[in-house]
Amino acid sequence: MEGATTNICYNLLDRNVHDRKLGDKVAFFWEGNDPGDELTVTYRELLQRVCQFSNVLKSQGQKGDRVSIYMPMVVELVVAMLACVRIGAVHSIVFAGFSAESLCERIMDSQCSLVITADGFYRGDKLINLKLLADEALQKCREKGFPVEKCIMLRHLSKAAEDDLSSQCPPAKRSCPDLQVPWNPDVDLCWHALLRGASDVCEPEWVESEDPLFILYTSGSTGKPKGVLHSVSGYMLYTATTFKLVFDHQPDDVYWCTADIGWITGHSYITYGPLANGATSVLFEGLPTFPDVSRMWQIVDKYRVSKFYTAPTAIRLLMKYGSEPVQRYKRNSLKVLGTVGEPINPEAWQWYYTVVGEKRCPIVDTFWQTETGGHMLTPLPAATPMKPGSATFPFFGVVPAILNESGEELEGPSEGYLVFKQPWPGVMRSVYGNHSRFESTYFKKFPGYYVTADGCRRDKDGYYWITGRIDDMLNVSGHLLSTAEIESALVEHAAVVEAAVVGRPHPVKGESLYCFVTLTEGATLSGPLEAELRKQVREKIGAIATPDYIQNAPGLPKTRSGKIMRRVLRKIACDERDLGDISTLADSSVVEQLFRDRCLTTP
Ligand code: WTA
Repeated sequence: MEGATTNICYNLLDRNVHDRKLGDKVAFFWEGNDPGDELTVTYRELLQRVCQFSNVLKSQGQKGDRVSIYMPMVVELVVAMLACVRIGAVHSIVFAGFSAESLCERIMDSQCSLVITADGFYRGDKLINLKLLADEALQKCREKGFPVEKCIMLRHLSKAAEDDLSSQCPPAKRSCPDLQVPWNPDVDLCWHALLRGASDVCEPEWVESEDPLFILYTSGSTGKPKGVLHSVSGYMLYTATTFKLVFDHQPDDVYWCTADIGWITGHSYITYGPLANGATSVLFEGLPTFPDVSRMWQIVDKYRVSKFYTAPTAIRLLMKYGSEPVQRYKRNSLKVLGTVGEPINPEAWQWYYTVVGEKRCPIVDTFWQTETGGHMLTPLPAATPMKPGSATFPFFGVVPAILNESGEELEGPSEGYLVFKQPWPGVMRSVYGNHSRFESTYFKKFPGYYVTADGCRRDKDGYYWITGRIDDMLNVSGHLLSTAEIESALVEHAAVVEAAVVGRPHPVKGESLYCFVTLTEGATLSGPLEAELRKQVREKIGAIATPDYIQNAPGLPKTRSGKIMRRVLRKIACDERDLGDISTLADSSVVEQLFRDRCLTTP
């Protein structure tokens, strides 16, 4: 589509309101963290709000600017992202569970001129003072010589001042005595005050097909997150088409994807794919376990959800509580169930299929990545015979192959590296600011192929089974984490000389973080030091990267050339004594010692 121009916001909203006459159709049923906090937004209202906010953004910046969005799961997050798109600015959404340090790193890497955030939000009973974190990030940016000029803050929990347009977002019903809302008049702007008088008419900025659409950071194996860059038309076409076919979208569906918009699943399958199809979605701010473990099914019945998309980790979490909390609700509106984020183990699949879907609903196990923009391997519901745990076959136009270590394509039943042989519309276009990293990460190991970094097996019927990452990446609750990034956070602590992090299988999270740390001479791994190390990682990266196990490692198993043998550490973490070939190990007594000192407690 090179040479053509378009605007995604126009296709998602104006076209649905004006050409398809869907103005009165609900775009989002917003369901807050607390039951009873709710809001319905139609396509017409969403268009108006996006246009108003686009005019606000236009007064603060222009086409091509990068904008960091650090917000909870509220309708205004969608408004902010689509307003960026409408004026041709590039959004970089940072998951609100990330730390100030992570936000600072991402703001600087993408050179954002504006940050949009909120005062705070609740995750279950826990208050997150988001503005406080955003301010900390902006302070860090300033110290590093990158002052961000403007920060727009939405009042989500606090009541806006008298003269603010507080009606734009109903303040949360609960009182928030611990909410702190620092205000820096040099930088901060009030979302509501800015909207006052903003016109709800805003002509979209027509952009080139290959112009950048957004940046979304994903963990990189060297530790520094990669700014995955997607472009306009290909991504639009791919998310719209995959959404329509993989969920068999019908006009009267109510669709619910439980992901956070801060991750690619939320970008592609809460905002872009569903809105492009004029779908009605549930936008949920809360947790599956709050106020109790029936919440998901209560919401399914409340809105009569027909298509439901979640992660294996959520299924495993709820499975622990048995079928009663599910069966308290009818769920008879459900038609298709989906999963994404990590391989689903057959037990969890069976539970999802029999208990949640009562064997009526096909499951679409969708394999894809931040980099791919949309689904790559997936069944089509009710058309593809399922095998529990397999993402089955490629989507239309996707050509996978399995390679061995020397890069030869394997035929028939086989296992090896999963690669794609042909480009598809939604493929990322670059790593923001570092095109050579894009080439070396995805195209260098096997020239001529896109490398997923996942292992994969193909069975005799041609079904694909993802076996997990083959780089130094861990998958904790469906979130990819870089071992190198966690290690460097640990090593920044004065008492730590060296650190190595490996995954240890976990019944709910998929993998848990097992950290080996070598301490400075004289230091001991006491309770307080462990707590400090956990805090250190939380502050550097975010709560999702909190170490589960920390083991003192006076020495780490290394090859003679000094490379840490993670394979051996993984065995130690799992207490598997069969180490395979360790002839390259420089000093095998280290391994004995590590086995003796293993962490035996469950976190
Ligand atoms: C893993 C998430 C097995 C895989 C959309 C991939 C999966 C990584 C599946 C990308 C699945 C995702 N079956 N593994 N259905 N879906 N993965 O970038 O390892 O956050 O490379 O994108 O998640 O994670 P990302």
